[in-house]
Amino acid sequence: MATRNWTADEIPSQQGKTILITGANSGLGLEATKVLSSKGAHVVMTARNLKSGNEAISFIKKENAIAKLDLMQLDLSDFASIHKFSEEFHKKYKQLDVLINNAGVMFPVKRELTKQKFEVQFGTNHLGHFLLTGLLLDLLKSTPNSRIAIQSSGQHKAKMGKPDIHFDDLNFDKGYNKYISYTQSKLANLLFAYELDRQLKANKIDITAVAAHPGYTKTNLTRHTGFFVQAIITNLLAQNVKMGTLPILRAATDTGVTGGEYFGPTKMNEMRGYPELVKSSHKSYEKEIAGKLWKVSEKLTQIIYNFK
Ligand SMILES: NC(=O)c1ccc[n+]([C@@H]2O[C@H](COP(=O)([O-])OP(=O)(O)OC[C@H]3O[C@@H](n4cnc5c(N)ncnc54)[C@H](OP(=O)(O)O)[C@@H]3O)[C@@H](O)[C@H]2O)c1
Repeated sequence: MATRNWTADEIPSQQGKTILITGANSGLGLEATKVLSSKGAHVVMTARNLKSGNEAISFIKKENAIAKLDLMQLDLSDFASIHKFSEEFHKKYKQLDVLINNAGVMFPVKRELTKQKFEVQFGTNHLGHFLLTGLLLDLLKSTPNSRIAIQSSGQHKAKMGKPDIHFDDLNFDKGYNKYISYTQSKLANLLFAYELDRQLKANKIDITAVAAHPGYTKTNLTRHTGFFVQAIITNLLAQNVKMGTLPILRAATDTGVTGGEYFGPTKMNEMRGYPELVKSSHKSYEKEIAGKLWKVSEKLTQIIYNFK
């Protein structure tokens, strides 16, 4: 018997919910903002560049003038910006139903560093979101049935990225390879999502943590990949942004989610298709690595998660 494809039509009303999306000015974050606000959610969009964020708001409001949108500045490659954001968020909002850790940077040609001197892909994609989530945990805890949805990537298991957490050289001081570093950051997203869910459950906290990946989707993410990849490969293989956003939308809204799931497309080696439950790499489920990454992330970001 054929099962029904999961589309945005499945999303129940999000009226009364406050949803925070990182990297909401572009690509998957922008599309998720559009869809969730059309379902009645109050979406707090973050962008590192407010001009681009305001353009995104105008774009959405052209279709949906009554969309409830706020925009806040957040640079995930700077811990000071994350702390400032969290302070302002706490002043403005008393609830947080869904946190969507979506923003990401991929394949910068040269090794770049965050403000606190971490390699930029690991520093932004993993450490920035690790700190942000820890700082917002109190609001998530006080909001009944809240959720954290984390955007990873099929790249977390790509052979060319030597999938691992390179504890002896997390910042690639000894040698930079953009693929290895991106892969590490996206594997870290999954290890974090699953460990977070385990810890929330162990402490009987009413928050679920869940992960997703968009397959291969045409967005601005591939801007560093060069003409050939952008003009030929992406145009040929990538799916459109509406399709690519479905897995994170499902992770964020499916009422059947209990925590620890991973949603992604299942066609063409998980590059395209409707979102279903998928399996991530064996390594991503390894508790020992997850525990070690957690400890080092707490040390590097100077935050201790308060699960009490
Ligand atoms: N597209 C794909 O095929 C694909 C595949 C697997 C995983 N993903 C993941 O999906 C997520 C969204 O990517 P996308 O495809 O929508 O790409 P995108 O259009 O480039 O969007 C990325 C978003 O992240 C933001 N961002 C980057 N660095 C940031 C920082 N330091 N602080 C705050 N925000 C920052 C970007 O802001 P700016 O606009 O200012 O740069 C942008 O809003 C990423 O986590 C990516 O790893 C995408």
